Amino acid sequence: MKNYIKHNEWQIIEKGFDPHLNKISESIFSIGNGRMGQRANFEETYTGETLQGNYVAGVYYPDKTRVGWWKNGYPEYFAKVLNATNWIGLNITISGEVLDLNTSKVSEFTRVLDMKLGTLTRKFTVELANGNILKVEAIRFCSIVDDEAGVIKYSITPQNFDGKITVESSLDGDVKNQDSNYDEKFWNEITAKQEGDFALLTLETKKTAFWVSSAIYTAIFQDGNDLELSSSFANKEKYVSQNFEVDVKQNEAITIFKYAVNLSSENHEKDAIEVNAISKLKEVVAKGFKQMLAEQAAAWAAKWQNGDVIIECDVAAQQAIRFNIFQLHQTYTGEDARLNIGPKGFTGEKYGGSTYWDTEAYCLPFYLATAPQQVAENLLIYRYKHLEKAIENAEKLGFKNGAALYPMVTINGEECHNEWEITFEEIHRNGAIAFAIFNYIRYTGENKYLAEYGLEVLIGIARFWAQRVNWSIDKEKYVMLGVTGPNEYENNINNNWYTSTIATWCLKYTIEAIETVKQNDGSRLDEIVAKTKFNLVEEQKHWQDIIEKMFYPEDEKLGIFLQQDGYLDKEQVLVAALPAEDRPLNQKWSWDRILRSCFIKQADVLQGIYFFEEDYDLETIRRNYDFYEPRTVHESSLSPCVHAIIAAKLGDLDRAYEFYLRTSRLDLDDYNNDTEDGLHITSMAGTWLSVVEGFGGMRVKNNQLSLHPVLPKNWKSYSFKIGFRKAIVTVKFDGKKVSLSNESEQALNLNVFGKDEHLEANGTLEINS
Ligand code: BGC
Repeated sequence: MKNYIKHNEWQIIEKGFDPHLNKISESIFSIGNGRMGQRANFEETYTGETLQGNYVAGVYYPDKTRVGWWKNGYPEYFAKVLNATNWIGLNITISGEVLDLNTSKVSEFTRVLDMKLGTLTRKFTVELANGNILKVEAIRFCSIVDDEAGVIKYSITPQNFDGKITVESSLDGDVKNQDSNYDEKFWNEITAKQEGDFALLTLETKKTAFWVSSAIYTAIFQDGNDLELSSSFANKEKYVSQNFEVDVKQNEAITIFKYAVNLSSENHEKDAIEVNAISKLKEVVAKGFKQMLAEQAAAWAAKWQNGDVIIECDVAAQQAIRFNIFQLHQTYTGEDARLNIGPKGFTGEKYGGSTYWDTEAYCLPFYLATAPQQVAENLLIYRYKHLEKAIENAEKLGFKNGAALYPMVTINGEECHNEWEITFEEIHRNGAIAFAIFNYIRYTGENKYLAEYGLEVLIGIARFWAQRVNWSIDKEKYVMLGVTGPNEYENNINNNWYTSTIATWCLKYTIEAIETVKQNDGSRLDEIVAKTKFNLVEEQKHWQDIIEKMFYPEDEKLGIFLQQDGYLDKEQVLVAALPAEDRPLNQKWSWDRILRSCFIKQADVLQGIYFFEEDYDLETIRRNYDFYEPRTVHESSLSPCVHAIIAAKLGDLDRAYEFYLRTSRLDLDDYNNDTEDGLHITSMAGTWLSVVEGFGGMRVKNNQLSLHPVLPKNWKSYSFKIGFRKAIVTVKFDGKKVSLSNESEQALNLNVFGKDEHLEANGTLEINS
């Protein structure tokens, strides 16, 4: 764990330059706008340790699979979101000396991510090897208004010299992915040219043939005036630059403005993409930096107006929740159903930018409550569009009759993960996808989605489970063999309680969904039955039999659900007994040792209890929590949030707060020693859940919004805003009373602390706890 980020309510601040922390900071200070994003790499040359990263949403490369021993059913490739053209480059040379923080003496270094404005700034003083001292101030952002554009303002003030500065403002597409399986580069050049004052570079991905066209305009100002310097154009393979020479004087600042656009063939016809890039660039240049910044600030203010969480009297907690919300907005805007939320968003290469069960299990509730309904619906439609591929995926593994197994890792619907325990065994992801449909309908109160899209997906998933279980003559029960649960520190286990529970839940819910569609729209059900060749009587009869006769491991003596068969045969040691130097286990222990131990990576039984809380009484929840949490190492970012929610429900506020800090400051304080790979974007939605569902006790129960707030002891109050079925409600709790205010024309019946209440349209309400 690190502790170098300064606490501040609206800003993320780093003071002093420590090259050992640079890759971590590059992740933390990442910027993006849903269409593109980048790590906080330096504009000027940097020869120290860095992970260069610029990403364009939806543009991927199918990198040929690399495994030690091929197994039938493995996917041919791992689809990766690519490191794309680096548009920020400003190579600065002073009297032949390159400005490079790795080889110069750096002082007064500050890096700030301003979450109100959506900007990244850096200030520093640097002494070059030749004794020249300069002050630099740089600010840049990816515009969330013009989401194909980014801009940089970079000022240099010579401190002790007059001289010549050369500026090489570049588009560098000669980049590679660090995770490239065969050390290959993924881009080919299509065009590299100068057009008037603009430089343009168009690249094409190998195999997938996506085009990304980038263009830049650079201008240098002094005292607010454009110096109108002419630039020379230079290019080499996959690289173009605009080069300037400027005479500078001691204490007189020069300011470089660099505007850039990145257009992808996902959104533009190839034969128009370059023309469109230039015209988009002209548009933003005409707007100018000042106006772009003002628009950026206004757009971020609107986002905060709708989705801020305010915590009184705990700056670290306040900063952290805003950081999580900010990064979620930078990653996914929900306008495009072809896009999804990669576990690292635009902040690193790990996980290939692909979609995991994280989206359905963790992210969906955040978007349901804080964004227009279409955003959550787009997340569901993304999976609907992949249904055929999920059916093909199941067929490859030997399933039939329309059974669908959604991939654990995907960009285009095809599985691209190739470790057998994850690809073939971590099948619980199918359950999360069904649960998300249920969750969406429960939250919105609208069944329309079921008939239009949801039921087809549910039938495919239910068919998969019905074929995946088998009858055990010995147990006289259905069993589920050879699975990996959410706890990836166990593989090939039998009867994982979570997987079996969500599997039968899917069967039950699909039966209910069929009935709902039948009642609301019988002819639509006929269409779905015909399309899926569904045998209404036989298939449902078989599902019902599985529901009634499924085996779930339990231990009666302890009164707990067992994570899997034989879990109690393991040596039972608690995490508290692990020496600090052994943590994190996944970096310190052999995989063999991890698999044989009782240690749990993330919520597994508790994930099921979280999803299906209403099925268990408080004592059952407590016994399972008290047994499993002390064995859990929380080495998945997805773990602490679920534990925070359950701990808050059980009234263990100190532990809930501890888990809240762990989930919310996971990256800011680098808890798991892996922030340098990128941020844990999907678990950031879990952070939001730990406030709203954890401390706020928000649920949808009996078709109503229900709240049961509790207050961590060092907070004076907290508030959050949610949209629920056309009502927009701010909930504030100060430990004594809940204050509700409704900013909509929609009145709301809700339940607070177990009592029914009525909140008028545009009304307010105070309820004592
Ligand atoms: C977790 C998975 C998760 C993946 C991506 C893994 O470490 O165990 O549950 O889907 O990360 O976030």
